[in-house]
Amino acid sequence: MSIRPAGEQDAPAISKLIQRTVREVNVRDYGEEGIAPLLEWNGETRIREALRSMEFLACEKQGQIVGVGGLDTMSGYLSRGYVLPEWQGKGIGTALLERLESIARSHRMQEVHLDATLTSTRFLERRGYHPLGERVASNGFHYIPMTKRLA
Ligand SMILES: CC(C)(COP(=O)(O)OP(=O)(O)OC[C@H]1O[C@@H](n2cnc3c(N)ncnc32)[C@H](O)[C@@H]1OP(=O)(O)O)[C@@H](O)C(=O)NCCC(=O)NCCS
Repeated sequence: MSIRPAGEQDAPAISKLIQRTVREVNVRDYGEEGIAPLLEWNGETRIREALRSMEFLACEKQGQIVGVGGLDTMSGYLSRGYVLPEWQGKGIGTALLERLESIARSHRMQEVHLDATLTSTRFLERRGYHPLGERVASNGFHYIPMTKRLA
């Protein structure tokens, strides 16, 4: 598995990867109408902005980006952890998360936090993340703020 930093040139591929994952995976928890905010949030322009302002990692297989995740090294906010449907369950999400946590540690952060989709809550709980209060509904979109203390 090869994990490398992602840059603005990767914006089209990353946007497509996330939007396909949302349409095929998150749709099971949110329904067709419910995924609209996620699709908008992950359009190419928004992803380009995120790539400029955050540290992003991409996992490549056979020259194709199959997984991605970002970290704001100022705030410790993790964002946009997505793995293509056919590559899920093979350890890629865990490897990306561990690399991002290790970047956070190298910035002397004591904790990281994120807004988890309903789809990813269990995955995150098994990796040491705890809900910070109740589920939040913002413009009809439900997510769960979560945090993890870094040892
Ligand atoms: C959450 C996500 C990033 C995890 O990535 P991943 O590469 O599947 O993660 P891993 O393979 O490291 O671990 C997946 C877990 O599901 C299990 N699993 C087994 N088969 C699986 C399958 N076919 N598909 C998905 N998960 C499977 C794994 O065993 C593992 O379980 P564990 O928690 O008991 O260890 C990915 O599933 C995803 O993109 N989900 C949808 C997008 C999303 O909501 N992202 C979060 C935004 S906050």
